[in-house]
Amino acid sequence: SKAGYPHYMLKEIYEQPQALSETLEGIIEDPRLERAAELVAGSKGLFIVGAGTSYHAGLAGQYYLSRLAGVVGHVVVASEHKVYTPGVGEDSVVVAVSQSGETFDTLEAVREWRRRGARIVGVTNVVGSALDRESDVTLYLRAGPEIGVAATKTFLAQTILLQTLAVAAARMTGRLSGGEARGLLAVLEGASETVRKAILASEGVAREEAGRLKAANSMYIIGRGIGARLAMEAALKVKEVSYIHAEAYPAGESKHGPIALVEPEFKVYVLASSDSPEIVGNALEMKARGGSVTVVSPSDLDLDIPEGIEVLRMPPTGGEILLDAYSLTPYFQLLAYHLAVARGYDPDKPRNLAKTVTVE
Ligand code: F6R
Repeated sequence: SKAGYPHYMLKEIYEQPQALSETLEGIIEDPRLERAAELVAGSKGLFIVGAGTSYHAGLAGQYYLSRLAGVVGHVVVASEHKVYTPGVGEDSVVVAVSQSGETFDTLEAVREWRRRGARIVGVTNVVGSALDRESDVTLYLRAGPEIGVAATKTFLAQTILLQTLAVAAARMTGRLSGGEARGLLAVLEGASETVRKAILASEGVAREEAGRLKAANSMYIIGRGIGARLAMEAALKVKEVSYIHAEAYPAGESKHGPIALVEPEFKVYVLASSDSPEIVGNALEMKARGGSVTVVSPSDLDLDIPEGIEVLRMPPTGGEILLDAYSLTPYFQLLAYHLAVARGYDPDKPRNLAKTVTVE
């Protein structure tokens, strides 16, 4: 049931604080986490595979594996897995991310790579799903059922699970001491509260902005570092439920082509994440072309933003890069939701889309 909410999507956005604390508590107590971290830290080749939102969570997961554990793998769009197959062998480890555990392309990658001898770490929200059955080690999201076609709470649940895996892998590679690892897990305990505050801070502004933007044809959502990865998920949400074109790319690419589109009124969202305060320069270059620029940032990030650029201040991260996803993501989920509603669409049932894609 929708428990009083007009749509599942909105209900599931509001369920994020609980989905995060349950997923975190579950994974920290799960002995399979150690086993998975051993595999990831010891692999000779790491492949993180998923589709759509799960691919984006994989991008975020790779960011933290690199930063914290020094483990750099390939993040693979499931439908493109064949490109990587020649490089997969007995020493390879695959982290397969799928909310449903039933996505055809993701399962194809798992099956093909498993035949070549790779070990599979599955990350899924559904116990007993095909991915669960076909993995060597399964790590479970505890996000509760997700009914809305647009993935919301499972994106952040996947993110916190992969962050926990990155912390555990960093213990194995020796990049983090026991005390440092415990410190980061304590930071992650704050994710739930950060997301709760982000929803509160976003609800009203996202609805108002949706009213202003509902006739837009297109927008950019840009970031650097973790912000670039979160921007990709933000753009997917806007596209799939509101049918407004939204494109994400790493902000440093602007001058290499995309800025050609920016003219007066063109909407540009700039995600200023804790790792990338230098993004103000990119916001300025968009503004100089007349773009309607909004910077979304944690409130405690020290940014020198001139007049004429709107700033949405989201919950503080204390400079902890682990918390950016929770501070910056809810605004875009709510923007997508309110854009869909303002344009007269049902956000729970986007046209042309199914919740789970079990065919090629
Ligand atoms: C986007 C969305 C899809 C799924 C994708 C993978 O909101 O829901 O992009 O993320 O179809 O699904 P799973 O995670 O079930 O493999």
